[in-house]
Amino acid sequence: MMKELVWKALPAKVQNQLDALAEIADLFGEMTNPKVLASLGPAGIKGLLLKQGKQGKPTLARARHSAYFDWSYPSDQPEMRDLFRRAKAGQWDSDRDLAWGTSVDPLNPEVPLLPSNFVDFDALSSYGVHLDAREKVKLNYSLCAWMLSQFLHGEQGALYAAAQVTEAVQFFDGKLYGSTQVMDEGRHVEVFSRYLNDKLERLYHVNDNLFVIIDALMTDARWDMKFLGMQIMVEGLALGAFGTLYRVTKEPLLRDLLRRVIMDEARHVHYGVVALREHIRTELSDAERREREQWAFEIALMMRNRFLAYEVYEEWFEGRISRAAWRDVVTRAPGMCEFRQVMFTRLVPNLREIGLMSPRVVADYDRVGLLQYVKGKSAPELSGEQMLADLDQPVALSFSATA
Ligand SMILES: [Fe+2]
Ligand SMILES: [Fe+2]
Repeated sequence: MMKELVWKALPAKVQNQLDALAEIADLFGEMTNPKVLASLGPAGIKGLLLKQGKQGKPTLARARHSAYFDWSYPSDQPEMRDLFRRAKAGQWDSDRDLAWGTSVDPLNPEVPLLPSNFVDFDALSSYGVHLDAREKVKLNYSLCAWMLSQFLHGEQGALYAAAQVTEAVQFFDGKLYGSTQVMDEGRHVEVFSRYLNDKLERLYHVNDNLFVIIDALMTDARWDMKFLGMQIMVEGLALGAFGTLYRVTKEPLLRDLLRRVIMDEARHVHYGVVALREHIRTELSDAERREREQWAFEIALMMRNRFLAYEVYEEWFEGRISRAAWRDVVTRAPGMCEFRQVMFTRLVPNLREIGLMSPRVVADYDRVGLLQYVKGKSAPELSGEQMLADLDQPVALSFSATA
């Protein structure tokens, strides 16, 4: 009671600052394994406290891995060699294959970037914010640009991570495959950047939590942590986000762009599962497996709880509603619920497949509502074409794309 009275007496700005600090403390408090804390802690300080991604200048992440050379050039991993063949055949050229001449008007209600019920505007109203029809379309424009900006920042991380793992892995067929992924990620940076620049004319700062994940895996010397962080976790997040946007947007250029990117990403996750499956099950000690299990769980929680578009809040609502109210609105937004569902449908079966879903963490996933996804198809069982066919199923929608 006393605590509540003191809280209410604080200026709104101070409440928001304390709310942000409490979120950071929560994150560190959740990390019970000291090795997980040691891995994510320095990145957490750079991203959450120092906000290095938002300083308007380049940042340096010091790489510490070793490049692994093999002078005998073995054919050692048939599944990776097959992925390499498929990746070569699946290359596309953004200049040639995308209709960049398409005129995109982010405020045209006839061709909405996001469906009108992506956010629950009644929930916003319940906090005293009443938007008119034009403002609602503008807010959706901001949210779409925010999501695409995060995709772009994630793709920059993916480009460097793909280059790092190509150097670091011991599988020679993996190195050949990795070279195609570097090209893929370069193309993804190109297309998201071009779409944001030319069509939406917006770019948001990198989300602090995304910065933390990227920084942690870039600076970790262990190749399998890079794979786990990028190929399984961030790519899982990306597939969830790309899939949701692909499913709901009516803008044809964006839809085509996402369709092509999803086809590439499906191969990337497949490669991650193949590379980690045997390694985690047979080459790691129990303590090493336990560390990776807990690390993956912490990242899954971050991805579930912490991609809350605070950058859009600061632009639109700071001073009008509290940060906590915005968190409530975004967490319950139908579009964000859909995104979490698609993301974990992709991610959790892959964690099972690589052996990071032992009985000791199953209860944790169950406690936070993520165990329901465990029986789904893992990446090697699901091609990019099947993934797109699933996304094209209107029955799977939790809200109407045409609303
Ligand atoms: Fe990518
Ligand atoms: Fe990727």
